[in-house]
Amino acid sequence: MIAQNAPQLNAKNIDSVIKAMTLEEKAQLLVGGGNDGFVGSGSMLGHQKKIVAGAAGITVAIPRLGIPATVVADGPAGVHIDSHRGGTTQTFYATGFPVGTCLASTWNTSLVYNVGRAMGNEALEYGVDVILGPGMNLQRSPLCGRNFEYYSEDPIVTGTIGTAMVNGIQSQGIGVSAKHFAVNSQESDRTRVDERVSQRALRELYLKGFEIMVRNSNPWTVMSSYNKINGLYAQGNKGLLTNVLRNDWGFKGIVMTDWIGKRKDLPIESEVAAGNDLMMPGYPAQVEDIVNAVKAGKLDINDVDLCVKNMLEYIVKTPRFNGYKYSNKPDLEAHAQITRQASTEGMVLLKNDGHTLPLKNIKNVALFGVNSYDFFSGGLGSGCVNVPYVVDMLNGLKNAGIGTTPQLTEIYQNYVKYATAKLKADKNPEMWFLDQGQPKLDEIEITKRCIEHEIKGADAAIITIARQAGEGIDRQIEGEFNLTDNEKSMISRVSDAFHAAGKPVIVIINSGSVMETTSWRDRADAILVAWQPGEEGGNSVADVLTGKANPSGHLTMTWPISVADVPSTKNFPQNPDYYNLTDKIASGQMKGVDYTNHEEDIYVGYRYFDTFGKQVAYPFGYGLSYTTFEYGKPTVKEHGDKIEVSVSIKNTGKVAGKEVAQVYVTAAKGSYEKPAKELKAYAKTDMLKAGQSQTLKMTINKRDLASFDEAESQWKVDTGVYTFKVGANVEDIKGQATLNIKGYTEKVSDVLKPQHKLNLLHQ
Ligand code: BGC
Repeated sequence: MIAQNAPQLNAKNIDSVIKAMTLEEKAQLLVGGGNDGFVGSGSMLGHQKKIVAGAAGITVAIPRLGIPATVVADGPAGVHIDSHRGGTTQTFYATGFPVGTCLASTWNTSLVYNVGRAMGNEALEYGVDVILGPGMNLQRSPLCGRNFEYYSEDPIVTGTIGTAMVNGIQSQGIGVSAKHFAVNSQESDRTRVDERVSQRALRELYLKGFEIMVRNSNPWTVMSSYNKINGLYAQGNKGLLTNVLRNDWGFKGIVMTDWIGKRKDLPIESEVAAGNDLMMPGYPAQVEDIVNAVKAGKLDINDVDLCVKNMLEYIVKTPRFNGYKYSNKPDLEAHAQITRQASTEGMVLLKNDGHTLPLKNIKNVALFGVNSYDFFSGGLGSGCVNVPYVVDMLNGLKNAGIGTTPQLTEIYQNYVKYATAKLKADKNPEMWFLDQGQPKLDEIEITKRCIEHEIKGADAAIITIARQAGEGIDRQIEGEFNLTDNEKSMISRVSDAFHAAGKPVIVIINSGSVMETTSWRDRADAILVAWQPGEEGGNSVADVLTGKANPSGHLTMTWPISVADVPSTKNFPQNPDYYNLTDKIASGQMKGVDYTNHEEDIYVGYRYFDTFGKQVAYPFGYGLSYTTFEYGKPTVKEHGDKIEVSVSIKNTGKVAGKEVAQVYVTAAKGSYEKPAKELKAYAKTDMLKAGQSQTLKMTINKRDLASFDEAESQWKVDTGVYTFKVGANVEDIKGQATLNIKGYTEKVSDVLKPQHKLNLLHQ
């Protein structure tokens, strides 16, 4: 029976609203609606009128109880909504901020907070209640198609940068959905793959970044990932969503599914009972399924009520519930300045022989590489942003007063026009993500003769090597991690010709993730990783090239010599034709596709290379500057459950700059095999003038030193002497200090056990 005078929702009457709700209404609240562009419709589409065009979804309104619909839109590099709407000439562009890898490479949490604040403000002013981001999966393999959206191969970097982003976005009174929880380490068969991983690697690596973020911010929502973890879908995994997330970590928000709310092989009662509050997008039939499951005694009404309560607690916080009058006119100019500053600071200088950079007396350059003229702002798929413009290299240089040689510029500009039109005409409709973002155009052959013509008019050569990647597909080794033949010959020919004329060659890497560099780096005088730096990219690169900005970005992932050196590679899918393969995967037994064994266990990224003494192209934490720094002797002190490491840093060079000090810990010898050292804290200096010093204080939570003890389901810090090594990257340790630490244990839930034997890597 529907009561007369139903209560109207407010922050204080949630329990009475729940009492007044019918079972159908409760079920409706748990089944959200998607955007009508979403592939595989049949979901709750058009079920609510579109509120913000292009937003990824909505939660359902129940007007009888004063419950409004709320709007969720993709992130993580900006607010993903449509830039144009029918019936108006007004545009709704959103700022393209740097991708996750670029932001993390700043190692500057207050800068990331400011980016989050700007992004959150844009969402607020466009009528969006939740940004679907940040992306916080660990970069397990250089081949994962979505690495660009994630921060690092390291959980401390992931957790601290994620915290800054969440706090920044949420400072605007809107929410986040930190994703994809958890172990969404690959895109191939991402919606079904079973990620088989030890409890220790889960706790210490794959969950740790999320744990740090949940403990240090109050994320409104978390998104459960598509994949399974040790045999169970994340969205139906009570161990993950209730025991770990809520009970162990104290999460108070809602969990929503990634964009398949209904699984063929997962009854909805398992999702609700697991603590997955919202199916996104759900299907109309799921409302009925919930009602029937409760009536049949398969689903406890208390579990439903718990999700409903979480949903209502979320709804009363939203701007939409609170009647915020959004302007649809965020300050895009102010945000362009923020993105420019952030991308400049995230760029990593890999090489700078003979002080090639900053450029001196360079008036004109020969600008090679298709992407110099079609610079990537971000990646493909839901994480792309409909930006007002992208400053490419040509315009970035021009804005900085540097011209380009006209003939080469004309060749490339015409080619970009032609290839863009051709790509559109040839498009495979299954590759939906190519419509979301800037797809990659093939590189063209540049002949020796053409290069010879360019030398006369150019003081230097700049070559852009770009990579695109995105949702739904992993990267290939050939032509994606490695260079293509056209790229190789372009670098060799340009380098031979320009070096013979005594002119420098600079390579700009415009990629959201790692690439091969050792086979060609000798041919370049300087290499700058610009990542996918957002809409102001070309201006940011020019800021660094001209010395207006001194680079201070550092790698948050190892750059290996070859993909084969990475231990996860042998268990990573390499199916170039994956899209055609999808239909054929039926057996459930295809290794690397239906299931993926994390045999490298805790040895992900530098934890492997450093412990096993393997050479890399560029180590974790690496990045050059135009100045030099001297480190003082570090000191370490214990204060209760915290450890403080201090070090003084002096700018010993000639120009102002910032340095990132990194604290790596070698644990006491105890009951567990441990990586040789692990990052536990870091800090970035302020802008230090030449000769200026600063003392950095870095805090480590003692619990972050613990190993995960699977047998007892506990965190365990072993008693003994710990060494705190302070360095400029994992291979360049400048000084160390030791501390005797008294061990302790902390019990946590015993969940997420592997169902299959894993052949784990050991020292
Ligand atoms: C992606 C999510 C995204 C969602 C909504 C999914 O396919 O995996 O990251 O937030 O779509 O667009």
